[in-house]
Amino acid sequence: MLVTNSITVEKNIEHIRLFNLKNEFIQVILNLLKNAVDALIDVFDDDEKFIIIEAYQDEANAIITISDTGGGIPVKIMNRIFEPYFTTKHQSQGTGIGLFMSMEIVSKHMKGFIGVDNIEIKRNGTYLTGASFRITIPLEY
Ligand SMILES: Nc1ncnc2c1ncn2[C@@H]1O[C@H](COP(=O)(O)OP(=O)(O)OP(=O)(O)O)[C@@H](O)[C@H]1O
Ligand SMILES: [Mg+2]
Repeated sequence: MLVTNSITVEKNIEHIRLFNLKNEFIQVILNLLKNAVDALIDVFDDDEKFIIIEAYQDEANAIITISDTGGGIPVKIMNRIFEPYFTTKHQSQGTGIGLFMSMEIVSKHMKGFIGVDNIEIKRNGTYLTGASFRITIPLEY
């Protein structure tokens, strides 16, 4: 069996400054990236594997989005993914704590929020479906 993992990562990152809780914040980003990579494992075609990272700030908030083309989140579980121990992965692959912990960090420690949507993006002439997570953090938390 040939196993490949060639994901195209696109970055569009403005300088943002909110690092009172740098380590916690990095943990959140890693959780979201890990989920994106996990979702892309099931995508067969390397030309359809994308992770898109964006960061910018407006007057009030820093906004970081992490989007993938891994198929998105089924609507019927959309409102459960932030629950502790909610997972659709095999026992050995996930415990369902990543998004719960990420939301705890962002909402309780940074007074922010994590939102999620399914998106369609066009790459190489094809529309690809995926999940898009948006972290919003007030600049003065
Ligand atoms: N980018 C994504 N694309 C599709 N589904 C996702 C994505 N991110 C999260 N999910 C869904 O949300 C569920 C919960 O995610 P969460 O990160 O909390 O737990 P996990 O990844 O299953 O396990 P853990 O993070 O503890 O290793 C996942 O099992 C998956 O069904
Ligand atoms: Mg996870």
